[in-house]
Amino acid sequence: MKTSIIGVGSSLPEKIVTNDDLAKIVDTSDEWIRQRTGIVTRHIATKETTSSMIEDAARKAIADAGIRAEELDLIIVATVSGDYRFPSAACILQAALGNDRANTFDIVVGCAGCVYGLNIADSFIKSGKVRYALVIGAETISKLTDWEDRSTCVLFGDGAAGFVVAASEDDSVGIQGILARGNGRDGMSLTMKERENMSPWADGEKVWDYLHMDGQAVFKFACRKVPESINELLDSLGLTADDIDKFFLHQANYRIIETVAKMMKQPLEKFPTNMDRVGNISAASVPCLMDEYYHKGLLKKGERHVLCGFGAGLTYATAVVVWDK
Ligand code: UT7
Repeated sequence: MKTSIIGVGSSLPEKIVTNDDLAKIVDTSDEWIRQRTGIVTRHIATKETTSSMIEDAARKAIADAGIRAEELDLIIVATVSGDYRFPSAACILQAALGNDRANTFDIVVGCAGCVYGLNIADSFIKSGKVRYALVIGAETISKLTDWEDRSTCVLFGDGAAGFVVAASEDDSVGIQGILARGNGRDGMSLTMKERENMSPWADGEKVWDYLHMDGQAVFKFACRKVPESINELLDSLGLTADDIDKFFLHQANYRIIETVAKMMKQPLEKFPTNMDRVGNISAASVPCLMDEYYHKGLLKKGERHVLCGFGAGLTYATAVVVWDK
């Protein structure tokens, strides 16, 4: 038995912010952002919230799957920017969908989020406890960003996207293999510190922090771990990179994609991208890209895909999926 992707959906905020718009608020340029990252525009939430984008993406994925929201047994939301500390974004979604039976929780794994969530859903489905699972990655990173820090504010966009997955009796389709790992030792290279203890008994400054990133450290981590994890998974399945039709990698930086393609000795054409238009949308990145390709008719039934997310933690997750829609 395998876990198959039966629905996909995404949601992006209406407002589009260009590199030139950013050059008006920080010391940067369209040329620097394009050359160093491949990003040209990104969507930024104004009236949208993390929860509203999650609900929109979830409803589209559920409709695409052709199931009813009440049938979901498991709802996982991968986010570091939910609207509430609690209840979880997943519970807020569950209420909005009118589902009152699913096992429902958030996971905090940054940009590896949706593929990490797929790994959990795959285990639940294989255990026989879950028939239909919803895995959504969603971020409003714009509310965590220091808009005076040019080294981070130009990178991220907002959005939500995800999958409905279900058991498939046909072993030749769906998730053929999946791994998810943490590398906590390097975690401090991408952080956002929690609110200080505000109690009258606590010492310390009462401050709210922003997202911080040692870009080069994360860049090196990605260029090492992404090919390593893909090769490990392919080896375990008796496959090689040549057996893969498309590599859907987290859209953090075009130079990471180029490096991975080179290391895997694969043509860049096999690596779809949309970071030029949406920037780095963290946990939503991989499903958003796949949703775009799917709706453009660019995913063919029976194609073999690699999905790979990497980010805060530091964490990474990699899957080999045979597309079944
Ligand atoms: O999604 C989670 C995972 N995240 C990632 O995978 C991100 C991985 N890292 C990266 O994509 C890249 O490291 C960045 C895009 C974040 C940065 O690119 P870089 O080539 O590593 O630049 P850098 O940090 O080494 O900075 C080079 C120069 C510096 O100036 P000096 O010290 O050489 O004078 C920066 O101050 O570029 C400067 N700089 C900028 N200049 C114009 C940094 N940000 C900007 C900017 N505009 N926005």
